[in-house]
Order: sequence, then C-alpha cells, then structure tokens
Amino acid sequence: MFYDLASTSWGEEERLAIARVLAGGRFTMGEQVRAFEDAFADTFGMKHAVMVNSGSSANLVGVAALFHVGRRALRRGDEVIVPALSWATTFHPLQQYGLKLRFVDVQLETLNMDVSRLEEALTPRTRMVVAVSILGNPAALDVIRAFCDRHGLWLFEDNCESMGASLHGKRCGTFGDIGTFSTFFSHHISTMEGGMLVTNDTEIDHLARAIRNHGWARDVPADTTLGPPHADPFFEAYRFILPGYNVRPLEITGALGVEQLKKLDQMLEIRRANATIFVRLFEGDDRFIIQREHGMSSWFSFTLILNPSMRIDRQRVMDALRAAGVGFRMITGGCFLRHEAIRFFDYDTVGEIVNANIAHDHGFFVGNNPRDLASQIVRVREVLDRAAVPDGVRA
Ligand SMILES: Cc1ncc(COP(=O)(O)O)c(C=O)c1O
Repeated sequence: MFYDLASTSWGEEERLAIARVLAGGRFTMGEQVRAFEDAFADTFGMKHAVMVNSGSSANLVGVAALFHVGRRALRRGDEVIVPALSWATTFHPLQQYGLKLRFVDVQLETLNMDVSRLEEALTPRTRMVVAVSILGNPAALDVIRAFCDRHGLWLFEDNCESMGASLHGKRCGTFGDIGTFSTFFSHHISTMEGGMLVTNDTEIDHLARAIRNHGWARDVPADTTLGPPHADPFFEAYRFILPGYNVRPLEITGALGVEQLKKLDQMLEIRRANATIFVRLFEGDDRFIIQREHGMSSWFSFTLILNPSMRIDRQRVMDALRAAGVGFRMITGGCFLRHEAIRFFDYDTVGEIVNANIAHDHGFFVGNNPRDLASQIVRVREVLDRAAVPDGVRA
C-alpha cells in the first residue's frame, strides 16, 4: 500500500529487548513491567503507573477501582458525563458497572467534547466526567478539571489516543484522577498490545494492582490501606481482597515499553512535522474540515470531514483513496449512539447530538506515522482535490 494507516516503529532495540526476555526465561509480569511502569510514571510526572494488557483494560480497571475507593466511591446508577464520539471501550466499562451515561456532543473542529454543555449535563446524580482527547488533540481538560473540582466529581481521562499531547505545558493523561493510555500497535508507542493507568492517588494505585491481578493481595505493597496482611503466610500467599480480573501484561510488553518510551519525543517530533505539511495543504479549503489543534496535539492521524453543506459524495472520495493505495477509516469509533451496542446502555443525551453524527457520516482519517510522510500527504491532497466534488459542480 502506498500510504498505510499505521506502520511499525520498532527497530533493533525492540528486537533485542524481546530476545533478552526470551533468554531470561521469565515471561509473565515481573521486573520488565515494573521498569516500564517506573519509567512511564517518571516521564509523565505521576506518582503511580500500572501496566495492563490493553488500553481497554486500563479503562476497565480504573472504573472498577473507583467502586472500591474509601471516599466518594461510585455506585450503580450514578451518572457519568461522556463525549458522544470516542472508542467503544471508553464506554463499555461504564455500562458493565451499571452507570448511566449522559452523552454530550463534540465540537466539529476539535472533535472533543463541547464543554459549553457541561453545566447543562450536570444533575444531582452526576459523579464523574470521562474526558477523551481525540486522536492526539487535547480536550479542554483545564475547563473539565475545574468543573469536576467545583462539583466534587471524579475526572477520568481516557488518553488512549493522545500520548505525548499537552495543554498549557501539562501532559494529557495527567489531568484526571485516573489517566489511561494505550500502547497498541498503531499508537504513539507500541508494545503490540498494552495499556497503562496513571494516578497520583496511592489508594487507587493499590486497588488497580489488585484488580488487574485476580483481585489478589500479592501485587499490592504491604503498607496498603486495603487491609492488613494475614498473620499466617500460608493464607497470605493466596489472599483475594477484591473482585478482580486477570489483565496482566507480559514481560515482553514491559521490555518493549521501556525501549519505545525512550523514542517517544523523537517520534512525536516527526508526527508533528507531518502534521505541519497536512495542515498547510488542507487549511483554507472549504470542502474539508480538518482537526483544529487545541494545545499541543500528538497527531495520532489526520482527520477530514467533508463539509456537509457542500454535499460531497464520501463514497466517491473513499473509492478514489482506495484506488490510490491510501488507507483510511472511520474517525475513532464514530458517534457511539449509532452502534448496536447502545441498546444495552442506560443513557440519555444532553441536547441534540449533531457534530458527532456529522463526523460519523462525512468524516474519515488517514494515518500519521513516526516517519516522513511528505510525499504521501501531497498525494492525498491531489487525490482529494479531484475526488471531493461539491454537489452541483461538474466532475
Ligand atoms: C479513546 C480510546 N480508548 C480506549 C482504547 C482502547 O485501547 P486498546 O486498543 O489498547 O484496548 C482506544 C483504542 O484505540 C481508544 O481510542
């Protein structure tokens, strides 16, 4: 393919890291995972980082942990304010834990939650906001943080698409009481599959460590507030303190994470250089609504929404991209309200959901990768220039 959605960012260092783990003989969660967690916490300036086997699992463990905290614990039936556009597993743990979702529309330009609707979304049952920075572009996390502080709400930051982004000099993923990251193949760093939960709250860290590991006390430090150890070592070795899962990461993924994290800044620079070209080529053309950067984006990809008022045929555009060997796909998961899974949710919407539907029906994205994509982006521009014909204009 001429221009793929994603490509590998591994080099010799990652292959050597895998070989080291294989030679070492310890494959399940151990010191490599711990080393990655420590480096991650350090890089993001957070007290704690807990690695799991995916970003989805980080969301699941994080939501579960908030049901067991000693103070302000979530309860079934509590309400959560969420954006209408995100990935499915932003929402699924909320449903699985019996929370009610209040969907708020996104802004068409940033693709992030329209925070002017937050006050309207608030009810006496609201307990949490889930903030998502879509495809590298920081959401209005400062505004959402202040809103949560004002109303005593948890802020859960699903930052699975935006590692390396920042707002006012503060890294995305660190605004929330809990922040989550994904290290899946196509993401800013890749451990094949993988996810990370970060927090400054030691109780949440301990809860997350138990929940990811069968609800077991074993991976929780001895000084935990979650209860004293059993006096008898026989029973202490197998003490289950919470209803948990097994979503542990593998040592190989920890070792990969350590190597990939060293390259994050350099890879972000390349992504941002590609973005400069993309924005220069597309801005000012009314046929395309491209993502407007808010703060400093880590540019997961390049979104294009065909201006709905021009009635451009998206199918024709997608056919032309396919013919040119250009990969493209739906923007994140599109409008979640449009998926069959929504019938299992307890939810309502805060006013009308307009922009998430426009992104769903008229949008798509092409990839960004940590390598020079200048010629690919120029080609996309040429293809789209010809294929994106407003209705009423002769092709
Ligand atoms: C916003 C968001 N949350 C969660 C996830 C889940 O991450 P993973 O694929 O690692 O499970 C993704 C995946 O891309 C995502 O975009």
